[in-house]
Amino acid sequence: MKKVVKKNERVGIQIVEMDVEKLLKTLNQAYADEWIAYYQYWLCAKLVEGPMRTEVAAELAEHAQEEHKHATLLADRIVQLGGTPILKPEAWVKHAGCGYDATKHAYVQAVLEENIKGEQCAIKTYNSILAMVEGKDPVTYDIILSILADEIEHEHDLVRLLSSLKGIKLV
Ligand SMILES: [Fe+2]
Ligand SMILES: [Fe+2]
Repeated sequence: MKKVVKKNERVGIQIVEMDVEKLLKTLNQAYADEWIAYYQYWLCAKLVEGPMRTEVAAELAEHAQEEHKHATLLADRIVQLGGTPILKPEAWVKHAGCGYDATKHAYVQAVLEENIKGEQCAIKTYNSILAMVEGKDPVTYDIILSILADEIEHEHDLVRLLSSLKGIKLV
C-alpha cells in the first residue's frame, strides 16, 4: 500500500532553511496583493478616460493578466510548502502588504500615477522577500525574482506612458 507522505516528511520542505510558517505568511501577503493588483488593473482598464485611453487601457489589461499569473505562481508555491492560500476574498485587504487604494479618478494621468505607486510598493516588497529567502529557499527565490522582474517592467511601462501623456499636454 502506498504510504501517505506527511508534510514534515517532505524533503522539498525540509530543505527550506528558514521558518516555513513565517515564509507562508509572507507569501500569503504577496498573494493578497496580487489579487488586489489584478482587480485594480482590470477595473482601471475599463474605467480609464482621456488622451491615449486605448493605449493605456490595453497596457493596464495586460498588467492585470500578469498580476493574475503572479497570484497563481504564489498560490502554487504556498500549497507546495504545505500552506493554504487565503481562502476568503474579504481577507485580501486585511492581509495585503501594499493595501487597496480604490481609484478616485478615472482620468488617465491619475490612473497611471496610482498604478505607478502600486508597482513601486510591489517592487520594494518583492525585493525584501528576495533578501529574506536568499540562500535559504532557492525555489521561492526563483519565483520571486521572476515576479520582481515583471513588476519592474510594469513600473517602466507606466512611467513611459505617463511621460508620453505629459508630452502631449505640453504641445
Ligand atoms: Fe504582481
Ligand atoms: Fe505589477
